Amino acid sequence: MIKAVRGTRDLLPPETALWNFVEAAVRDVFRAYNFHEIRTPIFEETQLFARSVGEETDIVSKEMYTWKDRGGTQSDEFGRFLDLIEEKLDLSVTDARDQIKLSRSTRGLYGQWKGESLTLRPENTAGVVRAYIEHKLWERGLNKLYYIGPQFRRERPQKGRYRQFYQIGAEIIGPPSAGSESPARDAEILELLATLLDRLGIENWTLQLNSVGCPNDRAAYNEALRKALEPVVGQMCADCQRRAVTNPLRVFDCKVPADQPIIETLPRISQFLDEPCRRHFEQVQEILKSVGVEFQLNDRLVRGLDYYSRTAFEFTHGALGAQNAILGGGRYDGLSESIGGPSAPGIGFAIGEDRMVLALKKSADAVQRKPDVYVAPLGAGMDREAARLARELRRHDVVVDLGDETFRLKKSFETASKLGARFILIVGENEVKAGAFALKNLESGEQVSVPRAELPQKILAREHS
Ligand code: HAM
Repeated sequence: MIKAVRGTRDLLPPETALWNFVEAAVRDVFRAYNFHEIRTPIFEETQLFARSVGEETDIVSKEMYTWKDRGGTQSDEFGRFLDLIEEKLDLSVTDARDQIKLSRSTRGLYGQWKGESLTLRPENTAGVVRAYIEHKLWERGLNKLYYIGPQFRRERPQKGRYRQFYQIGAEIIGPPSAGSESPARDAEILELLATLLDRLGIENWTLQLNSVGCPNDRAAYNEALRKALEPVVGQMCADCQRRAVTNPLRVFDCKVPADQPIIETLPRISQFLDEPCRRHFEQVQEILKSVGVEFQLNDRLVRGLDYYSRTAFEFTHGALGAQNAILGGGRYDGLSESIGGPSAPGIGFAIGEDRMVLALKKSADAVQRKPDVYVAPLGAGMDREAARLARELRRHDVVVDLGDETFRLKKSFETASKLGARFILIVGENEVKAGAFALKNLESGEQVSVPRAELPQKILAREHS
């Protein structure tokens, strides 16, 4: 038997009703805050993620689904060309290829011939910022965008952690002149999230808040971290030993239990914020207090992606166990420049939709709309009549499930009950001739004969009684 790949899963009804309920509620909230939907491709050039999320992050270094796309038809020829260069010029493979890559005029050609490296998106912020640059979205001023869609990370699967998972995310991005740097935007995003979680009935969430500073603070902080790590890093895991040299902030991503006591002793970014960053962070907190959104300061929170600056946050939820981050986000004021764009400060978040559905107390049954009526053809030739009637009813927004003329009445009743239909409508020869149909309420047992034209009102009116 061929099964779904490890870490991926099928979402089946009735659970999909819960997913649709969540998505409909968030679309409503996004509308109220004037966010608009963006859809970016599911795969992008690998270097987009390497340059934004960061080479040293777990996501880029371990978890991406990356492949080399097929090159053009001449790839073999060009490969042989490269081999020839190596042989004749006595260059090592990497030297020769690097030289060719470096040459501006041949770079594009090289990519085409070699086949590009592509990656399934592990997150959506990089794609949104790429689209912002590609379509010059700064011309629109401040962009308030949201997305809902699958993301891919090759993590070890467990409850609440999948290799294909879904995010609901939003980004506010624009030129500084449009107010994109303002702490008011950070607070707006956080207040939106509190509203959204409350609206969905998710209780007991905690907002963890930090500021990870800006490049200005980061240099001094990295230096302090390196110094603090120097005498202890030998006792830490191999990943941390590497991070200590390449990107010491990433040491905070370490999950190895033995390393935690050491990490606890490291200096925190909060001690290194410069005056503008400190002020920005204070202003975010002041607005949050004024709108009544509670938060906890957590200066260990650095988030697992390199592009963050200033505000960083996560909402956690007790019921989720080890994978308790229901959503995460923050500000990324330098991201656009790091992938070749203009200055475009931004802030955003992504909700793990899988985890949000897990945290919902509501059951799928409670949000699913059951059929209003089961239309049961009775006897030969009645499928045609029943189909016509079902079509009329559906045009009036009645949810109809349609039976089969080969079913005996008993089987039709059983099927209607199993589907949870509120009514069953019998379509037999006599009813068609009379132009009035037997409509039975399956909850109360009451049965009435209803003229064809009155059926939609009768069925829908009952819904509200
Ligand atoms: P992230 O923290 O990597 O941030 O992911 C956001 C959320 O996605 C997590 O809090 C979690 O709920 C969910 N998530 C992540 N990995 C998995 C997984 N393997 N299985 C299930 N759920 C998962 C970002 O992705 C940033 N792009 C957020 C952002 C937007 N920052 C600024 N704008």
